[in-house]
Amino acid sequence: MAKLSILQYPDERLHTVALPVQDIDDGIRRLVADMAQTMYAADGIGLAATQVDVHLRVILVDISESRNELLVLINPEVIKMGGSEEFEEGCLSLPDIYEKVKRAAWLRIRALDLDGKPFELQADGLKAMCIQHELDHLRGMVFVEHLSQKNQLRILSALARQTTQVRGRQKIR
Ligand code: NI
Repeated sequence: MAKLSILQYPDERLHTVALPVQDIDDGIRRLVADMAQTMYAADGIGLAATQVDVHLRVILVDISESRNELLVLINPEVIKMGGSEEFEEGCLSLPDIYEKVKRAAWLRIRALDLDGKPFELQADGLKAMCIQHELDHLRGMVFVEHLSQKNQLRILSALARQTTQVRGRQKIR
């Protein structure tokens, strides 16, 4: 297993549309293992392959406190969704940025597991939010792109300030 590096917004590669996985082979199993290590190391509750610059329809979710209920969704598709709920979201591709996003309150999805077996899953609450957030990544969308233009500009300038500060610190050392 290896920890992968996570693309940071506004990296253009985050706007890539992911393709379906054709074969669940050793390469995919290794990708999932590496993504799991990366997500847990960063203390995230979800990670899309897009974020590690692999443009295939693979997402990982674990909203458990114990951090041992890994959900692997390969080629996930929404069958049904409904209701409306707002959560404050964050993303490993935008550290320290938290914004409220309105999404469906529940959804039913179909996906393949690591053995290539299809299954269906119903989710609501935080899990439903997290799955929708990761599905957005697969279609090349980052959660802040749900916000108004004005708020997106505010976030971009906050991120630019963070980067400048980090560069400044590095210069001193
Ligand atoms: Ni994200």
